[in-house]
Amino acid sequence: MKEKLEQIRAAAVAELSAPEADLEALRIRFLGKKGELTAVLRGMGQLTAEERPVIGALANEVREYIENAIAEKAEAQKSAALAKKLLDERLDVTMPGKVPEVGKRHPLAQVQKDMEDIFIGMGFSIVEGPEVEYDYYNFQALNIPENHPARDTQDTFYITENILLRSQTSPVQVRTMEKQRPPIRIISPGRVYRSDAVDASHSPLFHQLEGLVVDKGITMGDLKGTLETFAKTMFGEQTQIRFRPHHFPFTEPSAEVDVSCFVCGGKGCKLCKGEGWIEILGAGMVHPNVLRGCNIDPDEYSGFAFGMGVERITMIKYGIDDMRYLYENDVRFLDQF
Ligand code: PHE
Repeated sequence: MKEKLEQIRAAAVAELSAPEADLEALRIRFLGKKGELTAVLRGMGQLTAEERPVIGALANEVREYIENAIAEKAEAQKSAALAKKLLDERLDVTMPGKVPEVGKRHPLAQVQKDMEDIFIGMGFSIVEGPEVEYDYYNFQALNIPENHPARDTQDTFYITENILLRSQTSPVQVRTMEKQRPPIRIISPGRVYRSDAVDASHSPLFHQLEGLVVDKGITMGDLKGTLETFAKTMFGEQTQIRFRPHHFPFTEPSAEVDVSCFVCGGKGCKLCKGEGWIEILGAGMVHPNVLRGCNIDPDEYSGFAFGMGVERITMIKYGIDDMRYLYENDVRFLDQF
């Protein structure tokens, strides 16, 4: 019986040495009511009176031994589980994080905003006009009657005979003067349309920014000062501007305005195609007919207007040689701005 008890102890020790040992199953197997130790104790009746206390004491010792061994093992399993959990859930706070991809403005939108900011700084406010426009506002009220040759260069898309996609932002001049009495000092950025085929410098849809100032005593000097401030802020302090005589039906006199090349400073380079100057916009003094058509007396008031292409300014500023890049939305291109 003594050997049997020692065997039980040895078996328990062997079972408990497995790291994943099922402790509850082992407790039932060795110490339970139907367990191995109980079975041995049941046979105690056959022992002699001298043997009984000795075996009884040994049985108690083995029971305590196994109980302790199970308790120790339970502790060990618990701390092993905790250590594993800590390891699994370890957080390396020095690891680089996932940087969220933040979008940014399209270069055209950015340049348009830069342009707006410059004019807002000079006291202009922003006015928007419709892209689907009446022939009246796009042409007639701008001193371009039916069959006027100026219509040829601004052929556009017609919705009906009298309704079209505006070919310029200049109709906003008329809409503003109809609604607002001088002093007027507005810019109007937006989309314009022309029935041009796509190439490196043409697109049927592009963007312009119109400017209009009307008040008493406005002169061409005011126009020059305004555009010079714009050019210097946009292209750099050393930038010069140059007015070349031109014709627009809705301004008189009219000019095309160039800026000195900010890359070569006027010596001639690739950007200015050896000219030293780059054309950036059209401008002039608002034609008396246009003022009159809006019930503004040209003997009392005068004004200037200008209009420029947002694509053109963007391409000059960033040295982009093909307009199509601006519409393809290739991230490799857009990421550079
Ligand atoms: N609207 C003209 C164009 O598209 C530009 C312009 C605007 C010229 C205002 C003079 C005054 O060519």
